[in-house]
Amino acid sequence: MKSQVNYLDMSAQIHHVTEPAVRSAIQALQLPAGSCGLDAGCGIGTHALWLAEAVSPGGHVTGIDISREYLARSEETASKSALESQVSYQHGDMGDLPFDDDAFDWAWNADTLWPVGGKDPRPLVRELARVVKPGGIVAILLWSSQKLLPGYPLLEARLNATCAANFPYADGTRPELHILRALGWLQQAGLDEPQARTFVADIRAPLDDAARGGLTGSFQMLWGKAEPEVTPQDWARFQRLCQPESPDFILNLPNYYAFITYSLFWGRVAS
Ligand SMILES: C[S@@+](CC[C@H](N)C(=O)[O-])C[C@H]1O[C@@H](n2cnc3c(N)ncnc32)[C@H](O)[C@@H]1O
Repeated sequence: MKSQVNYLDMSAQIHHVTEPAVRSAIQALQLPAGSCGLDAGCGIGTHALWLAEAVSPGGHVTGIDISREYLARSEETASKSALESQVSYQHGDMGDLPFDDDAFDWAWNADTLWPVGGKDPRPLVRELARVVKPGGIVAILLWSSQKLLPGYPLLEARLNATCAANFPYADGTRPELHILRALGWLQQAGLDEPQARTFVADIRAPLDDAARGGLTGSFQMLWGKAEPEVTPQDWARFQRLCQPESPDFILNLPNYYAFITYSLFWGRVAS
């Protein structure tokens, strides 16, 4: 089975699926029109454009990422957008942001604070807070759950019970590093009024090619390495339902319905 996921393409396709949920999360922050923000770990730059739209007219979003490949895709996408002049991208490390204190009105950070290798995300939250002006928002968005196999709740539960599906978490990972503890991360970074809210990306047939690509990539990302942790029968069921070549590919269901949730955590830099 093909187990490699092209994360650049998958990001674009999954953004297509999750756009209403992420845009609702951006809206919930009520970012002021004309404000200037940071998208730290901007990936392919899709969120930066949605953020720039949210602060129009007149606002600006700076995206930074450690990957030059992702930045090149961000710039290419922006060049085709009416919002091109409201976004800019630069290379940088979230752990040591190349900006002065209080440089931005707010900061956004999506799906980048996963504690890979047990790395503590809390210093990164403090670094985000450092570059935001007093009173400004630091927002963290994280993919927090999904139900993607309608009709197969036990199979989905068993696949989800694997280490592969819960990467980078394992038994023994410090509980305070779990994403659903992010209110604590905000509080420990000294942010005021920590808040949390979950947004749902509803997914239903008919699915266009981008949605099919994004979901097929998600099946692989979540469960594509789970084979050693499940029974041969479950692995065969996973392949039957989640491979596009299979006659029983679940995305071919005429009434396919699924969802992904994104949880938003935000707080204000103390005045
Ligand atoms: C899962 S992607 C999320 C991208 C984007 N925020 C989104 O939600 O689509 C994680 C991104 O974080 C970037 N990244 C990882 N570590 C980083 C670091 N130390 N500094 C800056 N970017 C980093 C990766 O290159 C990648 O683009």
